[in-house]
Amino acid sequence: MAAEIKSDKVDKVISLCVRRGILFPNSEIYGSFAGFFDYGPVGVELKRNVEASWWKRFVQEREDVVGMDGAIITHPAVWKASGHVDAFADLLVECTKCKGRYRADHLLESVLGVQVDGLPPEKIKADMEEKKIVCPKCKGSLAPARAFNLMFKTFVGAAEDESSQAFLRPETAQLIFADFKAVMLASRKVPPFGIAQVGKSFRNEISPRNFVFRCREFSQMEVEYFVPPRLLDSCRYFEAAKGKKIQVLTAADQEKNAPQSKTTAGDARDKKIIGTQWHAYWLAECVDWFEGIGIAPENLRLRQHTKSELSHYSSETWDVEYLYPWGWKELTGVANRGDFDLKQHSKFSGKDLSYFDQETKQKLVPHVIEPSFGVERAVFTLLLEAFEEKKEKGTDGKEEVKTVLRLHPAIAPVKAGVFPLMKKDGLAEKAREVFEMLRGDFVCEYDEGGSVGKRYARMDEIGTPYCVTVDYDSLEKNDVTVRDRDSAKQVRVPIAKLPNVLSALLGGTLAFEKAGAAVK
Ligand code: GAP
Repeated sequence: MAAEIKSDKVDKVISLCVRRGILFPNSEIYGSFAGFFDYGPVGVELKRNVEASWWKRFVQEREDVVGMDGAIITHPAVWKASGHVDAFADLLVECTKCKGRYRADHLLESVLGVQVDGLPPEKIKADMEEKKIVCPKCKGSLAPARAFNLMFKTFVGAAEDESSQAFLRPETAQLIFADFKAVMLASRKVPPFGIAQVGKSFRNEISPRNFVFRCREFSQMEVEYFVPPRLLDSCRYFEAAKGKKIQVLTAADQEKNAPQSKTTAGDARDKKIIGTQWHAYWLAECVDWFEGIGIAPENLRLRQHTKSELSHYSSETWDVEYLYPWGWKELTGVANRGDFDLKQHSKFSGKDLSYFDQETKQKLVPHVIEPSFGVERAVFTLLLEAFEEKKEKGTDGKEEVKTVLRLHPAIAPVKAGVFPLMKKDGLAEKAREVFEMLRGDFVCEYDEGGSVGKRYARMDEIGTPYCVTVDYDSLEKNDVTVRDRDSAKQVRVPIAKLPNVLSALLGGTLAFEKAGAAVK
């Protein structure tokens, strides 16, 4: 029986990411560039699969959500109206001696070992002074904390002065608000309906950290779901979603230092833990999507933002948190933004962003529930969740440590590895035929280097769910061995049936034991 090892998981996942070309620091040949990362060949497939799974679930499978793709640099007035120019800031402290700069709440967290999520800026400032926090590098004294705006600035056009200043978008959401009316009219939708977008966002984080958990360039997957105010507590999908099991940590629980509790989306709404049905529904949807692509329910909880923590636009926010090796932290956020954004853009643009509500015969500005996901954070979380090490006896009898990424087949970067048992006797040619047959439908990798054991190990490391081996019997019987990553069991499958069998296995409609004759 293989023994499980659980230690230094984060370091091991990061080292796997770099070694296998999943994700690595940007510009490494120049010493890297903090907060920026590049995806390699395996990582780009993983990222695209996560985005595709999200887009399918939250856009394509729904009648009531449409997509858009806005510009990264947009009219600077958008960011004035949204409040980002004035309020999108973190507290920065600077060392008076070495000029080192730190994010005040992160410094407080690391020095005192306390949770800082939910602490108001005044309290952070007061704690910094009271606890006499000094520079962690040179022990110099720190200047009083000040607000630092997180937007990257650039110039548009030939002039490089304030008149031509613009910003890289710090979230995709505002593009949706600015285009709300145009998209609504073009798609002939009326609230309740949503607009979704996937794309890059940029934040000049003071202290990017924990690999891609907090970086400066990342992608977001956001839905702005527009609801007439009178329907906020009347979600047409709630009946189907209300039984969804969730763990919740309310603002009141946090004040009392109480732990999270288990409940359902329906109960959380009935007991007024979550403010409205639409909010409870979207939280349940987010949890369900994460569970559907491989996150264990016990590693997810919903944490309500405390009053002092709420963003300027939000009346109620819940984070979907994951139990990271460094504690529970935000994976995704779901805010009730009310009518803040549309009203602000109406005010600043002078354009009417209301719509005519047929039922009340009134012009209305809809309210917004916003599920907002970070792609890199989701990718990293899925990798941490899937990572496993096992001790196994090698062919020489010695114990070896093997890495397996137990990624859900839907997001696995490579769906099948195809190998010839040997390169000789026509096996390589036959394996290439199988590979050519499969590669139009599945992302496959052909590998003929080293022992079959080594090739299985290489595939396990990047989470490939199935491996297909062509051997001497294949030449006679036109069949192959298919190996299951998670159980290491093998079955024999006729080559003619292989595309259908793989498709059913990957789609979860066929149990591996039923895929073919078991190989002893
Ligand atoms: N439109 C709302 C919004 O942007 P947010 O909580 O600031 O809300 C949403 O961001 C999600 O984007 C987060 O839950 C996280 O997954 C991701 N995210 C935010 N900042 C990030 C960063 N610096 N690096 C990586 N992901 C980030």
